[in-house]
Amino acid sequence: MPTTPRDLPNLRVFDHPLIQHKLTLARRRDTPPDEFRRLLNEIAGLMVFEVSRNFPVEALDIETPLETMRGSRLSKPVTLAPILRAGLGMTDGILRLFPEARVGHIGIQRDESSRKPIDYYAKFPPDVADGPVLVVDPMLATGGSAVHAVDHLKRMGCRDIQMVCLVAAPEGVRAMLAAHPEVPIHTAALDRRLDERAFIRPGLGDAGDRIFGTVGA
Ligand code: PRP
Repeated sequence: MPTTPRDLPNLRVFDHPLIQHKLTLARRRDTPPDEFRRLLNEIAGLMVFEVSRNFPVEALDIETPLETMRGSRLSKPVTLAPILRAGLGMTDGILRLFPEARVGHIGIQRDESSRKPIDYYAKFPPDVADGPVLVVDPMLATGGSAVHAVDHLKRMGCRDIQMVCLVAAPEGVRAMLAAHPEVPIHTAALDRRLDERAFIRPGLGDAGDRIFGTVGA
């Protein structure tokens, strides 16, 4: 079961050995983009099994080959909301478990001088507010992008929102706690802190660049 640090009640840290094994491989400088992408998607898939524990279900009567029985199915449409670009690096892994999920994209880029989020794209299903939404981004640094994404979703009426990330800095978790205290954040690791450039330490570098092979671009 994930653990919650006492001072960050909105956070759930997935300290499962398999997730930690894969995350450690992903963090390594020498891990190439193809392996990095594979690891991120595998971790996302493992995490979402637990993240979806409280998704609403409804009863469904079915015929097995032998008799009628009452089963259950997810009752609300699930929407993934990857924050572009890096969120795309975890989306396939989640879709493998939820092939029927819709994917609404939100493009937010952190301005590296002001460190403020700038949005450049958004497209969501019109009924996004009818079901659970998972905001997906491997990195939660200052929290600016995540707060911005959740603001956007709330303006569209969404109320059942959770965030799935890979590495989180305490600063970003606190920013989310201040702005959106009811939004649970699921992470594979709570890292030490942000550095003077607002990079997560020890972190894994710039996830978007590592996923798409644009390091140094
Ligand atoms: C990175 C990362 C997050 C954001 C985190 O994206 O993927 O979206 O920064 O930082 P924050 O918590 O301080 O907002 P980036 O702006 O580098 O864009 P990219 O995904 O296109 O690389």
